[in-house]
Amino acid sequence: MPLFPAVDPIPLPAPIWLIKLLHIVTLSLHFVAVEMLLGGLLLAVLLSLFRGSPQSMVAARALARRLTVVMTYVINLGVPPLLFAQVLYGRALYTSSVLIGVYWISIIATLTLTYWLLYRFTGRLEAGKSAWAVGLSAWVLAGFVARLLSTNMTLMLRPEVWRDMYSASAMGAYLPTGDPTLTPRWLLMIAGGLFIGGLWMVYLSGRSTFTTGEQKFVAGVGGKVAAVFGIVYLIAGLWATRVQPEAVKAGLATHKLYHFASFAGYGWLALVAVAVLVAGVTGFGKVAANWLSWTAALLALLIEITFTVFRDAIRDLTLLTKGFDVWDRAIATNWWVVGLFLVLFVGGLGVVGWLISVVARAQKPMEGAA
Ligand code: HEM
Repeated sequence: MPLFPAVDPIPLPAPIWLIKLLHIVTLSLHFVAVEMLLGGLLLAVLLSLFRGSPQSMVAARALARRLTVVMTYVINLGVPPLLFAQVLYGRALYTSSVLIGVYWISIIATLTLTYWLLYRFTGRLEAGKSAWAVGLSAWVLAGFVARLLSTNMTLMLRPEVWRDMYSASAMGAYLPTGDPTLTPRWLLMIAGGLFIGGLWMVYLSGRSTFTTGEQKFVAGVGGKVAAVFGIVYLIAGLWATRVQPEAVKAGLATHKLYHFASFAGYGWLALVAVAVLVAGVTGFGKVAANWLSWTAALLALLIEITFTVFRDAIRDLTLLTKGFDVWDRAIATNWWVVGLFLVLFVGGLGVVGWLISVVARAQKPMEGAA
């Protein structure tokens, strides 16, 4: 009996390479936003504990003010890869989503609550009230959403456990256990949060809205956090790769296409190492410069892109070992529709770019101002 449901007979309306490209681009951006949220929020909570230190409070507020905006990017940049993933991997992803249905649908309510708590956190900080408990609750909920996403993205790769899960609970109220890749994968995202959150602080330290003393403080804390958690992130990445099945590792070494993804893996390693160095120089060497903050931002983006390419290859190779070839689909490209989509996509990016430029040009109050 086949492990996966039958393929939809309706052909795909665009080439697979194009859908994959769009999937990887949008998912990389989703990951940048997710890591900023997970790391930036925890850092803001920790900084807010030092209420006696004005610089610490300024840094906590600066992060918190931006987090509600970051959350909009997390959500809006999560939708496109979800749609592309459903087109490419629907037979696997729909099945796993149904199997954990109760938890999967609970993400919507959890997200809403997280969002509300984020606003409460920022509001309490602005009002000079203790805010750590509210912020920490938001972080725990966001971490729970991350855990559910990791659970689904790994369950979709394990068709061999689906039947037993469904027999155990047809209600979708049963979470799978026993997958050795789940915890390292989730840890990778959580450690990556503090790493990217630290790099984000290094980037922010270049802002003229901070006083010189605040800039040094923000760069120092961000640099140290990114340097330390960059190493944890690297170890978690190596762990997540090590626990992959042998057939997947062999595929990364020899498969005619996915072999190239192993270069992305090495690229990821090298970029993380460079970022740790840059962060270390900023944090421990106390070197602050505008180019360092921009380098930190660029490195964070490149790290998420290489990570996403490598992760994508691991998924495709895992599915291939179970008889699911993502490239094996009927295609009937409707170039008019594809063209219209691309025009709207580029137009949409242009509008977002314009929005960002308007915000960048706006006159901003100093971060420390009440
Ligand atoms: C607090 C909010 C969120 C957090 C913390 C979060 C976190 C994550 C994490 C950790 C992963 C990687 C899972 C893994 O592979 O191990 C992930 C993947 C993903 N997220 Fe999010 N996410 C959030 C919100 C959303 C939303 C609102 C959407 C869509 C509406 C979304 C769509 C996706 C998709 C589609 C993937 C995986 C795509 C793929 O593998 O092809 N996420 N997210």
